Amino acid sequence: MSILLPDDTALDLAARLLSQGELVAFPTETVYGLGANAYSAAAVRKIFAAKNRPSVNPLIVHLPSAERLEQAVALPLPHGLQPLLDQLVPLWPGPLTLVLPKSPQISAVVTAGLPTVAVRVPDHPVALQLLQRCSFPVAAPSANPANYVSPTTAQHVSAELGERVKVVLDGGPCQYGIESTILSLVDSPPRILRLGSITPEQLAQRLQFSCEVLMRNDGPPHAPPPQAYPSPGRMPEHYAPHTPLVFEDELPATSDLRNAGLIALHRPPPSAPFARIAVLSPGGSLEVAAAQLYAALRAMDQAGLDLLVVQRCEEVGIGRAIMDRLRRATARTGSRKATGWEDLEGAK
Ligand code: TXA
Ligand code: MG
Repeated sequence: MSILLPDDTALDLAARLLSQGELVAFPTETVYGLGANAYSAAAVRKIFAAKNRPSVNPLIVHLPSAERLEQAVALPLPHGLQPLLDQLVPLWPGPLTLVLPKSPQISAVVTAGLPTVAVRVPDHPVALQLLQRCSFPVAAPSANPANYVSPTTAQHVSAELGERVKVVLDGGPCQYGIESTILSLVDSPPRILRLGSITPEQLAQRLQFSCEVLMRNDGPPHAPPPQAYPSPGRMPEHYAPHTPLVFEDELPATSDLRNAGLIALHRPPPSAPFARIAVLSPGGSLEVAAAQLYAALRAMDQAGLDLLVVQRCEEVGIGRAIMDRLRRATARTGSRKATGWEDLEGAK
Protein backbone atom coordinates (compact mmCIF):
# COMPACT_ATOMS: atom_id res chain seq x y z
CA MET A 1 0.00 0.00 0.00
CA SER A 2 1.09 3.54 -0.63
CA ILE A 3 -0.06 6.66 1.19
CA LEU A 4 -0.07 9.41 -1.44
CA LEU A 5 -0.52 13.15 -1.21
CA PRO A 6 -3.51 13.93 -3.44
CA ASP A 7 -1.83 15.79 -6.31
CA ASP A 8 -3.04 15.35 -9.90
CA THR A 9 -0.76 12.37 -10.53
CA ALA A 10 -1.99 10.56 -7.42
CA LEU A 11 -5.64 11.36 -8.20
CA ASP A 12 -5.22 10.08 -11.78
CA LEU A 13 -3.60 6.89 -10.48
CA ALA A 14 -6.35 6.38 -7.89
CA ALA A 15 -9.10 6.86 -10.50
CA ARG A 16 -7.31 4.44 -12.85
CA LEU A 17 -7.02 1.82 -10.10
CA LEU A 18 -10.73 2.17 -9.34
CA SER A 19 -11.60 1.75 -13.03
CA GLN A 20 -9.44 -1.41 -13.07
CA GLY A 21 -11.46 -2.89 -10.20
CA GLU A 22 -8.96 -2.17 -7.40
CA LEU A 23 -9.60 -0.63 -3.97
CA VAL A 24 -8.59 2.93 -3.09
CA ALA A 25 -9.03 4.62 0.28
CA PHE A 26 -9.84 8.32 0.26
CA PRO A 27 -10.70 11.08 2.73
CA THR A 28 -14.19 12.50 3.15
CA GLU A 29 -15.41 15.18 5.54
CA THR A 30 -16.74 12.45 7.88
CA VAL A 31 -14.29 9.50 7.91
CA TYR A 32 -11.99 7.80 5.36
CA GLY A 33 -13.78 5.56 2.86
CA LEU A 34 -12.64 2.34 1.18
CA GLY A 35 -13.74 2.77 -2.44
CA ALA A 36 -14.53 0.48 -5.36
CA ASN A 37 -16.40 0.80 -8.66
CA ALA A 38 -20.07 0.44 -7.69
CA TYR A 39 -20.88 -1.04 -11.12
CA SER A 40 -18.46 -3.94 -10.68
CA ALA A 41 -19.56 -6.84 -8.46
CA ALA A 42 -16.01 -8.23 -8.45
CA ALA A 43 -14.51 -4.92 -7.30
CA VAL A 44 -17.15 -4.43 -4.60
CA ARG A 45 -16.59 -7.96 -3.28
CA LYS A 46 -12.99 -6.91 -2.56
CA ILE A 47 -14.33 -4.30 -0.12
CA PHE A 48 -16.28 -6.93 1.83
CA ALA A 49 -13.21 -9.22 1.87
CA ALA A 50 -10.78 -6.45 2.93
CA LYS A 51 -13.02 -5.34 5.80
CA ASN A 52 -14.25 -8.80 6.71
CA ARG A 53 -17.70 -7.25 6.45
CA PRO A 54 -20.81 -9.45 6.35
CA SER A 55 -22.19 -9.48 2.79
CA VAL A 56 -25.67 -8.64 4.16
CA ASN A 57 -24.54 -5.12 5.21
CA PRO A 58 -24.98 -2.77 2.21
CA LEU A 59 -22.56 0.02 1.26
CA ILE A 60 -22.93 3.77 0.65
CA VAL A 61 -22.46 4.94 -2.95
CA HIS A 62 -20.60 8.22 -3.55
CA LEU A 63 -21.12 10.70 -6.38
CA PRO A 64 -19.39 14.03 -7.16
CA SER A 65 -22.69 15.92 -7.54
CA ALA A 66 -26.46 15.53 -7.41
CA GLU A 67 -26.52 15.98 -11.19
CA ARG A 68 -25.14 12.46 -11.52
CA LEU A 69 -27.82 10.93 -9.26
CA GLU A 70 -29.28 8.88 -12.11
CA GLN A 71 -26.06 6.85 -12.13
CA ALA A 72 -27.09 5.33 -8.80
CA VAL A 73 -30.81 5.98 -8.32
CA ALA A 74 -33.82 4.82 -10.38
CA LEU A 75 -35.33 8.02 -11.82
CA PRO A 76 -37.97 9.37 -12.03
CA LEU A 77 -38.67 8.83 -8.36
CA PRO A 78 -42.01 7.39 -7.22
CA HIS A 79 -44.74 9.96 -6.62
CA GLY A 80 -44.05 12.32 -3.73
CA LEU A 81 -40.34 11.60 -3.30
CA GLN A 82 -38.99 14.22 -5.70
CA PRO A 83 -40.18 17.22 -3.62
CA LEU A 84 -38.49 15.72 -0.54
CA LEU A 85 -35.27 15.16 -2.47
CA ASP A 86 -35.42 18.74 -3.79
CA GLN A 87 -35.53 20.03 -0.20
CA LEU A 88 -32.51 17.95 0.81
CA VAL A 89 -30.17 18.26 -2.19
CA PRO A 90 -28.99 21.74 -1.03
CA LEU A 91 -27.34 19.92 1.92
CA TRP A 92 -24.97 18.27 -0.63
CA PRO A 93 -22.04 18.17 -0.72
CA GLY A 94 -22.31 17.26 2.95
CA PRO A 95 -22.51 14.53 5.60
CA LEU A 96 -25.99 13.33 4.60
CA THR A 97 -26.73 9.92 3.02
CA LEU A 98 -30.12 9.35 1.39
CA VAL A 99 -31.71 5.93 0.86
CA LEU A 100 -33.56 5.92 -2.48
CA PRO A 101 -34.75 3.36 -5.08
CA LYS A 102 -31.74 1.71 -6.71
CA SER A 103 -30.70 2.00 -10.34
CA PRO A 104 -30.31 -1.45 -11.97
CA GLN A 105 -26.73 -0.47 -12.89
CA ILE A 106 -25.61 -0.53 -9.26
CA SER A 107 -24.32 -4.00 -8.39
CA ALA A 108 -26.61 -6.00 -6.10
CA VAL A 109 -23.47 -6.77 -4.08
CA VAL A 110 -23.36 -3.06 -3.08
CA THR A 111 -26.93 -3.06 -1.76
CA ALA A 112 -26.90 -6.61 -0.33
CA GLY A 113 -29.73 -7.43 -2.72
CA LEU A 114 -31.99 -4.60 -1.52
CA PRO A 115 -34.12 -2.62 -4.01
CA THR A 116 -32.75 0.59 -2.46
CA VAL A 117 -29.37 2.33 -2.49
CA ALA A 118 -27.73 4.65 0.03
CA VAL A 119 -26.12 7.60 -1.76
CA ARG A 120 -24.22 10.74 -0.85
CA VAL A 121 -22.07 13.57 -2.21
CA PRO A 122 -19.14 14.04 0.19
CA ASP A 123 -17.92 17.53 1.08
CA HIS A 124 -14.19 17.01 0.69
CA PRO A 125 -12.08 18.41 -2.17
CA VAL A 126 -10.03 15.19 -2.54
CA ALA A 127 -13.11 12.95 -2.58
CA LEU A 128 -14.84 15.23 -5.08
CA GLN A 129 -11.80 15.40 -7.39
CA LEU A 130 -11.47 11.62 -7.30
CA LEU A 131 -15.20 11.05 -7.95
CA GLN A 132 -15.15 13.54 -10.83
CA ARG A 133 -12.38 11.52 -12.47
CA CYS A 134 -14.52 8.35 -12.33
CA SER A 135 -17.23 7.68 -14.91
CA PHE A 136 -18.97 5.37 -12.38
CA PRO A 137 -20.24 5.87 -8.79
CA VAL A 138 -17.90 4.71 -6.03
CA ALA A 139 -19.14 2.39 -3.29
CA ALA A 140 -17.30 3.13 -0.06
CA PRO A 141 -17.89 2.08 3.52
CA SER A 142 -15.64 3.41 6.25
CA ALA A 143 -12.08 2.12 5.67
CA ASN A 144 -11.75 0.07 8.86
CA PRO A 145 -12.00 -3.62 9.66
CA ALA A 146 -15.70 -4.48 10.30
CA ASN A 147 -16.89 -3.51 13.78
CA TYR A 148 -13.80 -1.44 14.62
CA VAL A 149 -13.58 2.33 15.01
CA SER A 150 -13.80 4.32 11.73
CA PRO A 151 -10.56 5.92 10.47
CA THR A 152 -10.12 9.68 10.52
CA THR A 153 -6.56 9.80 9.13
CA ALA A 154 -4.70 8.03 6.29
CA GLN A 155 -2.40 6.47 8.91
CA HIS A 156 -5.38 4.80 10.61
CA VAL A 157 -6.30 3.19 7.28
CA SER A 158 -2.82 1.96 6.50
CA ALA A 159 -2.28 0.61 10.03
CA GLU A 160 -5.42 -1.52 9.88
CA LEU A 161 -5.95 -2.47 6.25
CA GLY A 162 -2.28 -2.65 5.18
CA GLU A 163 -1.75 -4.46 1.89
CA ARG A 164 -5.48 -5.05 1.45
CA VAL A 165 -5.70 -1.61 -0.19
CA LYS A 166 -3.44 -0.38 -3.02
CA VAL A 167 -3.51 3.34 -2.37
CA VAL A 168 -4.64 5.68 0.41
CA LEU A 169 -5.05 9.32 -0.60
CA ASP A 170 -3.92 11.43 2.35
CA GLY A 171 -6.21 14.40 2.93
CA GLY A 172 -5.19 14.94 6.56
CA PRO A 173 -7.59 14.52 9.51
CA CYS A 174 -11.33 14.47 8.70
CA GLN A 175 -13.31 17.59 9.57
CA TYR A 176 -16.36 16.00 11.25
CA GLY A 177 -14.91 12.68 12.45
CA ILE A 178 -18.29 10.89 12.68
CA GLU A 179 -20.06 9.00 9.88
CA SER A 180 -22.79 10.70 7.83
CA THR A 181 -26.42 10.98 8.89
CA ILE A 182 -28.50 8.38 7.01
CA LEU A 183 -32.07 9.33 6.06
CA SER A 184 -34.33 6.80 4.36
CA LEU A 185 -36.68 8.49 1.90
CA VAL A 186 -38.22 5.16 0.90
CA ASP A 187 -39.79 4.87 4.35
CA SER A 188 -43.01 6.75 4.63
CA PRO A 189 -42.66 9.02 6.55
CA PRO A 190 -38.87 9.30 6.04
CA ARG A 191 -36.78 7.90 8.89
CA ILE A 192 -33.31 8.65 10.22
CA LEU A 193 -31.40 5.35 10.20
CA ARG A 194 -28.15 6.76 11.61
CA LEU A 195 -27.44 9.97 13.52
CA GLY A 196 -24.59 12.16 12.27
CA SER A 197 -23.42 15.74 11.87
CA ILE A 198 -26.56 16.78 9.99
CA THR A 199 -28.97 16.88 12.92
CA PRO A 200 -32.65 15.81 13.03
CA GLU A 201 -33.46 19.51 13.60
CA GLN A 202 -31.69 20.53 10.38
CA LEU A 203 -33.58 17.85 8.44
CA ALA A 204 -36.89 18.90 9.98
CA GLN A 205 -36.19 22.50 9.04
CA ARG A 206 -35.65 21.54 5.40
CA LEU A 207 -38.52 19.05 5.15
CA GLN A 208 -41.00 21.09 7.23
CA PHE A 209 -41.75 18.00 9.36
CA SER A 210 -39.70 16.00 11.84
CA CYS A 211 -38.39 12.52 11.11
CA GLU A 212 -38.44 9.59 13.46
CA VAL A 213 -34.97 8.45 14.56
CA LEU A 214 -34.85 4.69 14.24
CA MET A 215 -33.10 3.32 17.29
CA ARG A 216 -31.15 0.35 16.10
CA ASN A 217 -31.63 -3.00 17.70
CA ASP A 218 -28.01 -3.78 18.54
CA GLY A 219 -28.67 -7.21 19.94
CA PRO A 220 -25.93 -9.13 21.69
CA PRO A 221 -22.74 -9.06 19.59
CA HIS A 222 -22.12 -12.76 20.20
CA ALA A 223 -25.50 -13.73 18.69
CA PRO A 224 -25.26 -15.37 15.25
CA PRO A 225 -26.07 -12.89 12.48
CA PRO A 226 -29.44 -13.40 10.84
CA GLN A 227 -29.52 -14.63 7.22
CA ALA A 228 -30.65 -11.28 5.92
CA TYR A 229 -31.35 -8.00 7.66
CA PRO A 230 -34.81 -6.80 6.69
CA SER A 231 -33.84 -3.28 7.68
CA PRO A 232 -30.11 -2.56 7.37
CA GLY A 233 -30.59 0.60 9.40
CA ARG A 234 -30.97 -1.76 12.33
CA MET A 235 -27.72 -3.64 11.69
CA PRO A 236 -25.90 -4.50 14.87
CA GLU A 237 -22.78 -2.36 14.61
CA HIS A 238 -20.18 -1.63 17.20
CA TYR A 239 -17.74 1.18 16.60
CA ALA A 240 -15.73 -0.36 19.41
CA PRO A 241 -12.11 -0.49 20.54
CA HIS A 242 -10.67 -3.87 21.63
CA THR A 243 -10.02 -2.65 25.19
CA PRO A 244 -13.16 -2.76 27.39
CA LEU A 245 -14.87 0.65 27.37
CA VAL A 246 -17.34 1.89 30.00
CA PHE A 247 -19.11 5.15 30.79
CA GLU A 248 -17.60 6.95 33.76
CA ASP A 249 -20.92 6.95 35.63
CA GLU A 250 -21.28 3.16 35.19
CA LEU A 251 -17.84 2.35 36.53
CA PRO A 252 -18.07 -0.10 39.44
CA ALA A 253 -16.92 1.62 42.66
CA THR A 254 -14.29 -1.04 43.29
CA SER A 255 -12.59 -0.61 39.88
CA ASP A 256 -8.81 -0.58 39.85
CA LEU A 257 -7.93 2.37 37.63
CA ARG A 258 -4.13 2.18 37.91
CA ASN A 259 -3.89 0.96 34.31
CA ALA A 260 -7.06 2.60 32.97
CA GLY A 261 -7.47 5.49 30.55
CA LEU A 262 -10.04 8.30 30.71
CA ILE A 263 -11.52 9.94 27.62
CA ALA A 264 -12.87 13.24 28.90
CA LEU A 265 -15.20 15.18 26.64
CA HIS A 266 -14.23 18.50 28.17
CA ARG A 267 -12.40 18.64 31.50
CA PRO A 268 -11.37 15.65 33.61
CA PRO A 269 -12.18 15.58 37.33
CA PRO A 270 -9.34 17.30 39.30
CA SER A 271 -8.15 14.17 41.11
CA ALA A 272 -8.70 11.60 38.35
CA PRO A 273 -6.73 8.44 39.26
CA PHE A 274 -6.15 7.33 35.65
CA ALA A 275 -2.90 6.20 34.02
CA ARG A 276 -3.69 8.22 30.93
CA ILE A 277 -6.17 10.97 30.13
CA ALA A 278 -7.30 12.34 26.73
CA VAL A 279 -9.30 15.56 26.63
CA LEU A 280 -11.29 15.73 23.39
CA SER A 281 -12.13 19.43 23.46
CA PRO A 282 -10.57 21.60 26.19
CA GLY A 283 -12.68 24.50 24.87
CA GLY A 284 -15.90 22.51 25.34
CA SER A 285 -16.94 22.27 21.68
CA LEU A 286 -19.01 19.21 20.74
CA GLU A 287 -17.88 19.56 17.11
CA VAL A 288 -14.22 19.40 18.13
CA ALA A 289 -14.98 16.47 20.47
CA ALA A 290 -16.63 14.56 17.58
CA ALA A 291 -13.67 15.23 15.29
CA GLN A 292 -11.21 13.94 17.92
CA LEU A 293 -13.22 11.00 19.28
CA TYR A 294 -12.13 8.12 17.01
CA ALA A 295 -8.44 9.09 17.00
CA ALA A 296 -8.54 9.23 20.82
CA LEU A 297 -10.28 5.85 21.07
CA ARG A 298 -7.61 4.33 18.81
CA ALA A 299 -4.67 5.89 20.65
CA MET A 300 -6.06 4.70 23.99
CA ASP A 301 -6.74 1.25 22.54
CA GLN A 302 -3.09 0.94 21.53
CA ALA A 303 -1.68 2.15 24.85
CA GLY A 304 -1.72 -1.24 26.58
CA LEU A 305 -4.40 -0.22 29.07
CA ASP A 306 -6.78 -2.69 30.79
CA LEU A 307 -9.83 -0.47 30.75
CA LEU A 308 -11.06 2.67 29.00
CA VAL A 309 -13.51 5.04 30.65
CA VAL A 310 -15.43 7.70 28.75
CA GLN A 311 -17.54 10.63 29.88
CA ARG A 312 -21.02 11.25 28.51
CA CYS A 313 -21.74 14.44 26.61
CA GLU A 314 -24.84 16.56 26.32
CA GLU A 315 -27.25 15.11 23.73
CA VAL A 316 -27.77 18.24 21.68
CA GLY A 317 -26.68 18.84 18.08
CA ILE A 318 -23.83 16.52 17.15
CA GLY A 319 -23.79 15.39 20.81
CA ARG A 320 -26.61 12.98 19.91
CA ALA A 321 -24.42 11.29 17.29
CA ILE A 322 -21.46 11.18 19.70
CA MET A 323 -23.59 9.48 22.38
CA ASP A 324 -25.05 7.09 19.77
CA ARG A 325 -21.52 5.93 18.84
CA LEU A 326 -20.43 5.73 22.48
CA ARG A 327 -23.45 3.60 23.43
CA ARG A 328 -22.51 1.14 20.68
CA ALA A 329 -18.83 1.21 21.63
CA THR A 330 -19.62 0.52 25.30
CA ALA A 331 -22.29 -2.11 24.50
CA ARG A 332 -19.72 -4.78 23.71
CA THR A 333 -18.11 -4.41 27.13
CA GLY A 334 -21.52 -4.38 28.79
CA SER A 335 -22.51 -7.65 27.17
CA ARG A 336 -19.14 -9.24 27.95
CA LYS A 337 -19.73 -8.38 31.54
CA ALA A 338 -23.32 -9.59 31.47
CA THR A 339 -22.26 -12.93 30.03
CA GLY A 340 -19.44 -13.27 32.55
CA TRP A 341 -16.97 -13.46 29.68
CA GLU A 342 -14.98 -10.65 31.14
CA ASP A 343 -15.39 -9.21 34.60
CA LEU A 344 -14.59 -5.53 34.62
CA GLU A 345 -14.35 -5.39 38.36
CA GLY A 346 -11.44 -7.79 38.10
CA ALA A 347 -9.72 -5.69 35.46
CA LYS A 348 -6.30 -4.51 36.57
O1 TXA B 1 -19.77 9.05 6.48
C1 TXA B 1 -20.04 8.03 5.88
O2 TXA B 1 -21.19 7.72 5.56
C2 TXA B 1 -18.86 7.10 5.50
C3 TXA B 1 -18.05 7.77 4.40
C4 TXA B 1 -16.93 6.90 3.90
O3 TXA B 1 -18.90 8.18 3.37
N1 TXA B 1 -19.34 5.82 5.10
C5 TXA B 1 -19.87 4.94 5.98
O4 TXA B 1 -20.21 3.70 5.43
O5 TXA B 1 -20.03 5.17 7.16
P1 TXA B 1 -20.51 2.38 6.30
O6 TXA B 1 -20.49 1.24 5.38
O7 TXA B 1 -19.54 2.27 7.40
O8 TXA B 1 -21.97 2.56 6.75
C6 TXA B 1 -23.00 2.37 5.81
C7 TXA B 1 -24.31 2.29 6.50
C8 TXA B 1 -24.57 0.95 7.14
O9 TXA B 1 -25.15 1.16 8.40
C9 TXA B 1 -25.57 0.31 6.17
O10 TXA B 1 -26.38 -0.62 6.83
C10 TXA B 1 -26.34 1.53 5.68
O11 TXA B 1 -25.33 2.49 5.52
N2 TXA B 1 -26.97 1.30 4.38
C11 TXA B 1 -26.36 1.12 3.19
N3 TXA B 1 -27.26 0.91 2.21
C12 TXA B 1 -28.48 0.93 2.79
C13 TXA B 1 -29.82 0.78 2.30
N4 TXA B 1 -30.07 0.53 1.03
N5 TXA B 1 -30.82 0.90 3.19
C14 TXA B 1 -30.56 1.18 4.49
N6 TXA B 1 -29.31 1.32 5.02
C15 TXA B 1 -28.28 1.20 4.18
MG1 MG C 1 -18.53 1.72 8.97
